[in-house]
Amino acid sequence: MKIPRALLVSMLIALSTAAAPGAAGKTPSIVPQPQSIEMLAGQSFTLTGGTQLLYGDQKAKAPAEMLAAMLRPSSGFDLAVKSGAKADKNAILLTTVGADAKLGSEGYELTVGSGGVVIKSPGAAGLFYGAQTVRQLLPVEIFSSKRSSAVWVIPGVKISDKPSFAWRGIMLDVSRWFFDKEFVKRYLDMMAMHKLNVLHWHLIDDPGWRIEIKKYPKLTKIGAFRGEGKWRFGGFYTQDDIREIVKYAADRHIEIVPEVELPAHTLSAIVAYPHLCCTGKQMTIPTRHAISRDLYCAGRDTTWTFLEDVMTEVCELFPGKFVHIGGDEARYDRWKACPHCQKKIKELGLKSEKELQGWMTRRIEKFLQTKGKQILGWDEILSCGISNSAGVMTWHRPKTASVGAKRGHPVVMALTGHCYFDAPESKLPGEPYAASWIAPISLKKAYQWNPVPAGLTGAAASNILGAQGCVWSDQLLIRARLTNEKSRMLKQPEKYIEYLTLPRAAALAEVTWTPGDQRDWDKFSTRMGRMLLRYSQSGYNYRVPVPIITAKKQADGSALISAAVPIEGGTVRYTIDNSTPTADSPKLTEPVATPKSSAFKAVTIGSDGRSSLVMEYVDQSVKYAKYGKKIGQWKSGKIASRKAAKAVFDATGLINKPGLYTVTFLYTGGRQRLDIDSIEVVKNDKEVVAKDTHHGFTGGKSKGNTYRVKIDDYETGASYKINAMIYGDVGADSNGLVFIRPGK
Ligand code: ACM
Ligand code: ZN
Repeated sequence: MKIPRALLVSMLIALSTAAAPGAAGKTPSIVPQPQSIEMLAGQSFTLTGGTQLLYGDQKAKAPAEMLAAMLRPSSGFDLAVKSGAKADKNAILLTTVGADAKLGSEGYELTVGSGGVVIKSPGAAGLFYGAQTVRQLLPVEIFSSKRSSAVWVIPGVKISDKPSFAWRGIMLDVSRWFFDKEFVKRYLDMMAMHKLNVLHWHLIDDPGWRIEIKKYPKLTKIGAFRGEGKWRFGGFYTQDDIREIVKYAADRHIEIVPEVELPAHTLSAIVAYPHLCCTGKQMTIPTRHAISRDLYCAGRDTTWTFLEDVMTEVCELFPGKFVHIGGDEARYDRWKACPHCQKKIKELGLKSEKELQGWMTRRIEKFLQTKGKQILGWDEILSCGISNSAGVMTWHRPKTASVGAKRGHPVVMALTGHCYFDAPESKLPGEPYAASWIAPISLKKAYQWNPVPAGLTGAAASNILGAQGCVWSDQLLIRARLTNEKSRMLKQPEKYIEYLTLPRAAALAEVTWTPGDQRDWDKFSTRMGRMLLRYSQSGYNYRVPVPIITAKKQADGSALISAAVPIEGGTVRYTIDNSTPTADSPKLTEPVATPKSSAFKAVTIGSDGRSSLVMEYVDQSVKYAKYGKKIGQWKSGKIASRKAAKAVFDATGLINKPGLYTVTFLYTGGRQRLDIDSIEVVKNDKEVVAKDTHHGFTGGKSKGNTYRVKIDDYETGASYKINAMIYGDVGADSNGLVFIRPGK
């Protein structure tokens, strides 16, 4: 029997609700999913004020103390942390003694039984992750900062677990918008609960320099602030702040990788020290979002003095292995016009400005190697001529990652199609203002991909270090400008960033932790039903998933609609009268019949009272009626990529008299938007009778995606086809529909 998906999901949610702590025998909802879980029937452990936290060796002491600290706020227990070798019915033991080396330093084994809790790992990181799993096995209230009267029962379970990838990261952009120290710590806490281990800190970009450099005080005095008077905005981290945050991260087994951009995205430094750029002109910190054409002069020695001084201080502050050197989106106009840069190109026998960037990258890499660091840069550096030891962070295409990995570069995947969390989750009304140059990234899209590109195997595949989500904050800067700093999202930018991050960080965590063959979207969605409650308890501003709607068309044209609840303890509320559903609307408990043209609207209401956006079911024929009749579609993998190519849509019979016609391109899915350069109407496959040439696109947002053509002499019986010059903007993964209607 094939169970409808929606029903399956509700059944799974029902199952996992039954897996409440103490209900041994049912699999608990842990995210990311551990490699193996075995339930120990009839066993459980109860955490009490008398529970002891024992560390079996010195390596286990800090993770034991961290677990005690994490359990304290909600339980109110000030658990004793002591040295000890054996768990008992009221003790939790963390130890590296006798741990299986095959688990690696981040892997762990966890046993919860009536005789106690034991977490074993060869490394302190593994013990910390085992402790994170213990938190998730407890009632969700354990994540609250408020005292709770929950009974702290952990079901009997045996878990063996380790991550698939070494790099499980998130990039946070604090340049376009400055986030204070406390928020960064809160963000690190969020990462820790997902077993994420790299914070890629985008500290420098055109509109703000955010790290104190003692030798160059103007970087923060001038470069960290934009605007004037009451619109003055900015901030930076002192070196003491940085040390505090680095320690906070290290306590949670998170490495902070600082990004010190070069040569472009550096206007904030250039404004502070104009001699760093080719023109030497004094500029101001931009208050609008743009990528500056001004970049570091590669030809002057003074640039190198500066870069080495800055990197020296950066390396002292960040003890980790990697320094990210940016390298993206450099435009070379200034270098082309600069006598110093041109002289350098000649002197070094280079062929182009791109090779000059390659030389710059190799030179800074050599310097950083003297400090024991490995560099990493955005994928543009791959075509500049770099050494094989340089890491490549792929944002454009998986193919670039394959090329890099085959050449021996360590590669981190940060694809715009799955990882750019500054894109909205959907195009539904009510999504926050977010990046529209890429297609929306739903939770499912953030989940359903593999960091190892298709076809990559063996040693090359092992060069894929992992993946990361990217949370750019340029939308805040854009919004500030557009709304004179009055936008709602600017009042609580931290909440905005949390909303973009959660729950997609959970998808990323599972993509990088759980082996690909053990990942399953439906099961993940089910486990997320509980994970969302943990966000709620932690006070994070997460996006409540919309109900999962399935509609079954009936013979009479009506539809029978079911909806699954994507959050434990939540409800789906609906309307069929076009009004907006609220927590007071009828609760959907069984399939609802809706007449043909009626809009069914539903929201998820969480047990914390939060509502999702409105999910609407509209009959497709009604939904697209305003665009006219469908004349075709474009499909993922079947369109040109990055360069326009002809696609033909047959409008014969729909162009049926002289007059004006409107052709509309509508994106429906895929990682890339569709770009359109022009359309022309061809009569009888040979004569162009009308055309409209303008650039348009359709994706997360659409602009200029309608084309108007005027047919002067209609010929009865002739064929009329639309030749469109179209392409996916950075790849061929795009789908959509093409319509035509008479008139404007
Ligand atoms: C980037 O999005 N410029 C890496
Ligand atoms: Zn120059």
